[in-house]
Amino acid sequence: MPYTADEQRYDEMKYARSGKSGIRLPQIALGLWQNFGGNRTLDIQEEMILRSFDLGINHFDLANNYGPPPGSAEENFGVLFKKHLRPYRDELLISTKAGYYMWKGPYGEWGSRKNLIASLDQSLGRMGLEYVDIFYHHRPDPNTPLEETMAALDHIVRQGKALYVGLSNYDAEQTREAVAILRNLGTPCLVHQPNYSMLNRWIEDGLQDVLDEQGVGSIAFCPLGRGQLTNKYVDKIKEERANPTGNMRTEAYTDERIAKFEALQAVAERREQTISQLALNWILRDNRVTSALIGASRVSQIEENVAALKAPGLTTEELNEIEGILNGIGNYAW
Ligand SMILES: NC(=O)c1ccc[n+]([C@@H]2O[C@H](COP(=O)([O-])OP(=O)(O)OC[C@H]3O[C@@H](n4cnc5c(N)ncnc54)[C@H](OP(=O)(O)O)[C@@H]3O)[C@@H](O)[C@H]2O)c1
Repeated sequence: MPYTADEQRYDEMKYARSGKSGIRLPQIALGLWQNFGGNRTLDIQEEMILRSFDLGINHFDLANNYGPPPGSAEENFGVLFKKHLRPYRDELLISTKAGYYMWKGPYGEWGSRKNLIASLDQSLGRMGLEYVDIFYHHRPDPNTPLEETMAALDHIVRQGKALYVGLSNYDAEQTREAVAILRNLGTPCLVHQPNYSMLNRWIEDGLQDVLDEQGVGSIAFCPLGRGQLTNKYVDKIKEERANPTGNMRTEAYTDERIAKFEALQAVAERREQTISQLALNWILRDNRVTSALIGASRVSQIEENVAALKAPGLTTEELNEIEGILNGIGNYAW
């Protein structure tokens, strides 16, 4: 069946400006890190990507190494793009990244000009695209001068292979320096992609301030703590407590931690929500974070997560209560 996008696709989704740029990002975006590789059938991927677009998720986030195996998420996305999404290219924001290991020898990872330019060419080939909307440096490289990496990003934009550039996993100081270099080159940094959730709040210790001050947007990855901030996970830790399988670290299912997740679930239920919806509202609570970059293994999860945007904002009382619950909750995703 040829796909025709839903006429109402922009009615419910909310879009927020990425820093001081001209680009608005959907407040929920879809990442293809896991569940879109060679290990999943294409029909499930197709269903998730098309349903996402119908719900107003026009931003799909990839990287050279997403799979498994590395590269397969870009290949699969390329197949689906060609089959269904090519007519909608100008509505889509497609991102990819380079920085993690992709090929043998000294140029297959990190942040040299050689790595970035070759990797993006490979990504464009796998996806069958002429350009990506955002090209990220995926992680800081301690051994390559920042000037070289940023000049490579600038060059890529001037070549027309990316419209915007972004940084991922850079700390506050690295970000401040990189953003200044990019600005001087005439290619401002559009967005930073950090790990951020109720369970991982490192960006609150300086990075988010730098982004606000520099007018750079932020898109939070792993906003559900890789699946921990979901109702399903509460059941999982309770089951593990009752019948330990040894597959989970014992700290993850102590009585105290289970009580905290139940308390989070109670807050969500009072708002007629699930934990994942509450976690997404919390990320977007003060408009400092531009977008939450979710992962999903099925359509129903995407629908549930996008529905979070219909909920009222969190009250000061709710935020204070959540703050108390999160104190000492622990993160066992990595
Ligand atoms: N820049 C970087 O270094 C970096 C690193 C990591 C990720 N990322 C980006 O961030 C994206 C998201 O990462 P993530 O997958 O870890 O994000 P996440 O949103 O924290 O976790 C996604 C997982 O949570 C579960 N889930 C999602 N919605 C659910 C719901 N409503 N109910 C129950 N379970 C639900 C699913 O687990 P099941 O699969 O078990 O169903 C899903 O795979 C990636 O795809 C990638 O684009 C970037």
